[in-house]
Amino acid sequence: MTIVLAYSGGLDTSVLLKKFALAGHRVIAMTLDLGESDGTAGADAQAALEAARSKALALGAYDALLIDARERFIATMALPALRANALYEGVYPLSAALSRPLIAALLVETAHRYGADAIAHGCTGKGNDQVRIEIAARALDPALKVLAPLRDEPLSRPDAIAFAQANGVPVAHTHAKPYSVDANLWGRSIEAGVLEDPWKAPPEDAFAWTASPNRRPSEPENLVVEFETGVPSFDRLAGAELVAALNQRAGAHGVGRIDLIEDRVVGVKSREVYECPGSIALIVAHKALERLVLTRDELRFKSLLDQRYAELIYDGLWPSPLRKAIDAFNAALAERMTGRVRLKLHQGSVVADGSASPFGLYDESLATYGAGDRFKHDAAEGFIALWGLPLELRAKVERDMLTAAH
Ligand code: ARG
Repeated sequence: MTIVLAYSGGLDTSVLLKKFALAGHRVIAMTLDLGESDGTAGADAQAALEAARSKALALGAYDALLIDARERFIATMALPALRANALYEGVYPLSAALSRPLIAALLVETAHRYGADAIAHGCTGKGNDQVRIEIAARALDPALKVLAPLRDEPLSRPDAIAFAQANGVPVAHTHAKPYSVDANLWGRSIEAGVLEDPWKAPPEDAFAWTASPNRRPSEPENLVVEFETGVPSFDRLAGAELVAALNQRAGAHGVGRIDLIEDRVVGVKSREVYECPGSIALIVAHKALERLVLTRDELRFKSLLDQRYAELIYDGLWPSPLRKAIDAFNAALAERMTGRVRLKLHQGSVVADGSASPFGLYDESLATYGAGDRFKHDAAEGFIALWGLPLELRAKVERDMLTAAH
């Protein structure tokens, strides 16, 4: 069989690659650059990506690809999610969840290019990522087989190391890693190890992109995010560069730390820690511009769609027509999403403290309590009488019934 394997270069997927090769399969190892290295702990991650390709070939891959998918990730996954202010359970910007459908798409595209029979991933049977990758891949090509060997036969770390040592798979660190980490431009997720006790506070060593409280600048920093029809830029940077720059700037103030007991697709609750400085800063800015530009009705209705959108992404339903319809709704609103928002970064928090837009609906002469007030005060009395009429009628019926009962 020809198999395209989603290959991180880590121990698990290296063991998978070797096992496939030993079984006589032709393996195409596909490694993606999704901007994992663009956090502040950059150099190591970048070197690891480059090493993955040569490692795959050394392990017997027929071919090994390192694909820079950063711009595609931001344009096709992160920006639609930004338009939806997508936060799962109100707090998690879905960094890992958004990457999986793109990984699936690239696996399928690579499989077609090589005439492969199957795609393979190293997800376990307990997580969300298997759901996301497989549903997205099936929607693109149901004829491709999907192999998930670590789900069929979970591999313990000692077994993986034993297999690796017996079969010439290099093992970087023999000591157990304290956490399981997944990262891309939209955020970094940290799970397992000591974090599995929900009472224990996340230790500082879990964080790599956000400054510890004692290392944050004592003074706040302002920065201005510009939006043009919903597309953000800052300091003339856009796309992946913009998000990478915001990860650095907001991360230095400790912005974007999240500690969440979250509900997984497979029904269990898990404790997840994230650091998402860039995406959180952008969502705060985007929401602030929406509040200025959109009508009350649009905002109220959109907040329901925003929540539904986050659930669809989390639950692995990226190919859903509902998701596409919400994207179309958001794109229609985004025609007016032009303007700028000033963010204030300080001691772990990011707030919008100024906004401006040619489409802004704020009218100072209507809002003011000072001079120049143009609001029609005399219209308020009649408005209240009619607005509250249904409640007045209901309250009267209730009173009459009480009187009749006595
Ligand atoms: N719990 C998060 C999610 O489902 C993060 C998953 C991270 N994946 C990983 N293999 N570490 O989106």
